[in-house]
Amino acid sequence: MYLDNHGRKIDYMRISVTDRCNLRCFYCMPHQGISKVSYTSIMKYEDIRKVIEAAVQLGITKFRFTGGEPLVRKDFHKLIELVNHFDNIQDISLTTNGILLKNQAAKLKEAGVNRLNVSLDTLNEEKFNNITRGGNLSDVLYGIEEATNQGLTPIKINVVVIRGTNDDEILDFARMSIKQDVEIRFIEYMPIGNNDNWKSRFIGVDSIKQICEKLGKLIPAETVKGEGPASYYRFKNSNGKLGFISPVSDHFCSDCNRIRLTSDGKLKTCLFSDEELDLKPALKSQEDLMKVLNKAIKMKPEKHNISSDKSWTFGNEYRSKRNMSQIGG
Ligand code: GTP
Ligand code: 5AD
Ligand code: SF4
Repeated sequence: MYLDNHGRKIDYMRISVTDRCNLRCFYCMPHQGISKVSYTSIMKYEDIRKVIEAAVQLGITKFRFTGGEPLVRKDFHKLIELVNHFDNIQDISLTTNGILLKNQAAKLKEAGVNRLNVSLDTLNEEKFNNITRGGNLSDVLYGIEEATNQGLTPIKINVVVIRGTNDDEILDFARMSIKQDVEIRFIEYMPIGNNDNWKSRFIGVDSIKQICEKLGKLIPAETVKGEGPASYYRFKNSNGKLGFISPVSDHFCSDCNRIRLTSDGKLKTCLFSDEELDLKPALKSQEDLMKVLNKAIKMKPEKHNISSDKSWTFGNEYRSKRNMSQIGG
């Protein structure tokens, strides 16, 4: 078991394999796009494999691949094939926008992906097109269907709730969790990246829950503590579950189990920290990689600095060096 300086077991790594994305969600990417990491700085699959090998030695057993959009990286499934044979890995998953899933779900399953989280903020075609600046909702829905058929389950659907954008669809998503065996997760809008009017568009989990309760009483559902940031509920007659993720109003930093790797080989100690350690110089030896990983784990801050006293101070002023699309959530 590997503990950081605050007594937390660090056993989960999020690996951003690219900063590129085939969508441009308004809250994630600025209108003009981002300055992209050059192809020469992007970690090669073999380099990522080496990092994972070292991370496994340190007791990291769960790996989530993110982007940008991980599936736009060429032959992404080949990376999964490279890493799937390490004995101690318990979970290989990815967070995707789902656009390319229709054609890739079978390959991903075969390569060793266990499950998927799909970002989907609206069930309305036109709104989807607006939020993503050009995406097709039906691509995502077909993608989810194909991934379900391939057994990439449970599929978790991530809905970032933004006032004036999709708060009118909270009940539609909640109804979806009653009808279908899916996990719909409502996520508080975080002040990262491209969100100038963040404070006025933020809605806390308490309010989101209240809206859901118009459909009936929410009953706590099975949640494994330390297994990710969501707390789960269901209605009496639900086939699926509703998850609530409250990084701002009730942060889960004291249970944080994770470390992040960016597509250009930097270790991030916290989603909200600009502190980064460069892994590239350590790629020559497993021992060096383990040293840098170890150092990053020991540097993890105790918590982020957004106050949860409903004044959300720090939020509006907060600017991370990287946009969300360059971190991967
Ligand atoms: P599992 O629980 O393993 O399924 O994954 P996850 O929920 O951690 O990952 P996902 O990529 O689906 O992220 C869901 C939401 O939680 C996104 O908005 C992420 O940005 C957010 N999130 C994930 N990890 C952290 C974290 O360490 N801190 C904060 N503040 N938010 C996080
Ligand atoms: N606040 C909360 N979640 C966000 N995501 C992207 N930007 C934000 C934000 N500002 C979500 C994406 C994806 C996950 C990785 O993070 O929608 O589901
Ligand atoms: Fe949207 Fe995800 Fe792409 Fe960001 S990385 S622009 S949230 S689809």
